[in-house]
Amino acid sequence: MKVVRDIAIMQKGAEQIRREGKRIAFVPTMGYLHDGHRALLREGRKKGDLLILSIFVNPIQFGPSEDLERYPRDWDRDCAIAREEGIDLLFAPEASSMYPAHFQTTVHVEQVTQGLCGASRPGHFDGVSTVVAKLFNIVKPHVALFGEKDYQQLATLRRMVEDLNFDTEIVGVPTVRESDGLAMSSRNVYLSSDERKVATVLHRSLEEGLKQYRSGQREVPKLLHAIQKGICEEPKIQIDYLEIRDAESLEPISMIERKAVAAVAARIGKTRLIDNILIF
Ligand code: PAF
Repeated sequence: MKVVRDIAIMQKGAEQIRREGKRIAFVPTMGYLHDGHRALLREGRKKGDLLILSIFVNPIQFGPSEDLERYPRDWDRDCAIAREEGIDLLFAPEASSMYPAHFQTTVHVEQVTQGLCGASRPGHFDGVSTVVAKLFNIVKPHVALFGEKDYQQLATLRRMVEDLNFDTEIVGVPTVRESDGLAMSSRNVYLSSDERKVATVLHRSLEEGLKQYRSGQREVPKLLHAIQKGICEEPKIQIDYLEIRDAESLEPISMIERKAVAAVAARIGKTRLIDNILIF
């Protein structure tokens, strides 16, 4: 596995790979890899001749009071996982070369970023779309893979790629869960064992919403009520948002007539977790 830190070297390497007629599959991450990332990498392996993983904790997608400093990092473990997954190249740039002092450009996606995490994390999606646009220009992928767990991020990046004519196919990969249903996330490491148990109520309650939909309920307020009731049985959880939106446009809806997504963000102690379920 080749490790590249230099942006210009990565760009030249990507050009060379493309000239050889090989298809580049790319999985951008912030590291602290878990089984969710492994699923992205395995899907990527199927979709490209050459698999590139990036690890970069992107400072501009964290708000001033968020967890940039304490975001979990483990370079040696990440490298071991990358090797196990048969990555061809690991790109890990320095923050100072991604964002030199004179840096002043932002990619902003309008509607899809409004509400949900966009409301509680102002500027977050600008940071995500800006870094992903940069990474795409550096790694030049034919296909890039993102988890459905960060559903609004996935919708935002799909919009960006279409609007800005990036020649990269975006593939969403279903959320990988622990055996008790908790969605895998690098931030799960912040949870105490007690909080960890409490957190499982999120998926259970979202599933209850899906169950009610499948038994015929189409009214969004009623479905939301059922999900909220489940979550509120756990007094240690504070809901940040709970919404059902159109799965493609992410527009708010009041009746389910097409594929929809129920998305939740909640705080347990100091940790903010997100999860979602597709309703169709
Ligand atoms: O999902 C993530 O890990 C990050 O938001 C991403 C897409 C790698 C951008 O920093």
